Amino acid sequence: MSQKIAVLDFGSQYTQVIARRIRELNVYSEILPFNTKASDLKKRGVCGIILSGGPASVLAKGSPRPDAGVFKLGVPVLGICYGLQLMGKMLGGAVVSSKQREYGLGELSFKDGSQLLKGLKSPIQVWNSHGDRIEKLPEGFKAVGTTENSKFALIENKQKRFYGMQFHPEVAHTPRGVEILRNFLYDICGCTGDWKMSDYVATAIEKIRAQVGDKKVILGLSGGVDSSVAAALIHKAIGDQLTCVFVDNGLLRKDERKKVEQLFKNNFKIKMKTVRAEQLFLKRLKGVKDPERKRKIIGKTFIEVFDKAVKSIGAVDFLAQGTLYPDVIESVPIAGNPASLIKSHHNVGGLPKKMKLKLLEPLRELFKDEVRALGKELGLSKEVLWRHPFPGPGLGVRVVGEVKKSYCDILREADAVLMEEMHASGLYYNLWQAFAVFVPVKTVGVMGDERTYDNVIALRIVESQDAMTADWANIPHEVLAKISNRIINEVKGVNRVVLDISSKPPATIEWE
Ligand code: XMP
Repeated sequence: MSQKIAVLDFGSQYTQVIARRIRELNVYSEILPFNTKASDLKKRGVCGIILSGGPASVLAKGSPRPDAGVFKLGVPVLGICYGLQLMGKMLGGAVVSSKQREYGLGELSFKDGSQLLKGLKSPIQVWNSHGDRIEKLPEGFKAVGTTENSKFALIENKQKRFYGMQFHPEVAHTPRGVEILRNFLYDICGCTGDWKMSDYVATAIEKIRAQVGDKKVILGLSGGVDSSVAAALIHKAIGDQLTCVFVDNGLLRKDERKKVEQLFKNNFKIKMKTVRAEQLFLKRLKGVKDPERKRKIIGKTFIEVFDKAVKSIGAVDFLAQGTLYPDVIESVPIAGNPASLIKSHHNVGGLPKKMKLKLLEPLRELFKDEVRALGKELGLSKEVLWRHPFPGPGLGVRVVGEVKKSYCDILREADAVLMEEMHASGLYYNLWQAFAVFVPVKTVGVMGDERTYDNVIALRIVESQDAMTADWANIPHEVLAKISNRIINEVKGVNRVVLDISSKPPATIEWE
């Protein structure tokens, strides 16, 4: 195993970003609870420790503290934001609460000298977010960088290899922050940068085995990137102790169930239980038009069906989920994060509380692109790893208004044509999402000599970085013409195809 860095977590929203930056620098890092014992860190053989930021004030009673022994291990320590204040407070300096909260962009000025700033020229832009500040440095420390509001923005005790910074080197708003982290890892901690994603597989497998032991695990497989990678990883770790449950809610794309079974059951040889619950879902959705009610019904029914399937499997201890780090943030209703408020996503939470199962979330520290890299290591195809997002409620929110089987069938066929043409034209992987929407509005058409009175299919094809904003994609007319011709000729029940040219905001990506 290559060198290991411990990131002690004091609750900053950026803790996972620090870990990610370290991985990007090809060094292995582990996020550990803030109060991890120094002896434990020693046992793990860490070659450097990072104290993360956090929302607390070191001046507040009961605010989180690391084991004082971390400063006696003889390994370099880097304190970021709250971590810096901790160093100030615990190593004999003085911290005061600042009247002026420094928040946002700042400029760090420095003279040559600190190893941490090797290769950088003063000043550099940094991102601050802190309230307290150091008033008096602990013994052995000196200031090596200042900002407008702080003469101790960057401090060090070179001899002991302790470093503290009031700004966040891990965020994009500190553009040269990665170099600072690199200097810490490579020059100060002596890391060589030989860690790779393939090493992560081995570590993750060890962790899963240690957590699960000889117990049984179930996982709700959706066919999406996250649950697919989680399934492949957990299966590699514990083989037949894992059972995947796939719920066919009747709201899936064409041939979805077959494809998932083919890949996981036949190819990966994973134990898999498929529940065909189309009728139940459609019965519950009968007469329901309101999108949020539809979502709630689909979510609730899913939990019920899943729960029943699990009980039929027998004794199970763990529920595995493909939760990623961004899901963890989005599930917390943070003020100003409309994504968490506008629609009731049911992907995280809900299930385990009711089922009294322990959670197994091996992807919880990872970002989407890292999950894809991991999936590639595990042998998953580009088609699985780069497929467009598909909402949990599926076609339930792509059939406008009441959901009926006949509508879903028509939509599935139209959508399949769209998918084929997106792949054939080579456009699929350049897009965030492409899908068809069933619009239950009858319009008049002519086919041959006959007058038709059929439904409308809308094409929604968008580009986006993160689904928070999106633009409708500029698709060549000949591709659109082919899609439209094919849908109208091949899909019975459709005589009109329209293109959605709304951006988000103000429209959303999905129609409901
Ligand atoms: P909107 O329509 O809000 O969608 O612009 C943003 C992204 O989220 C997906 N989406 C959902 N995913 N459950 C999900 O799992 C849902 O209820 C849901 N609603 C929207 C949507 O496909 C897009 O990628």
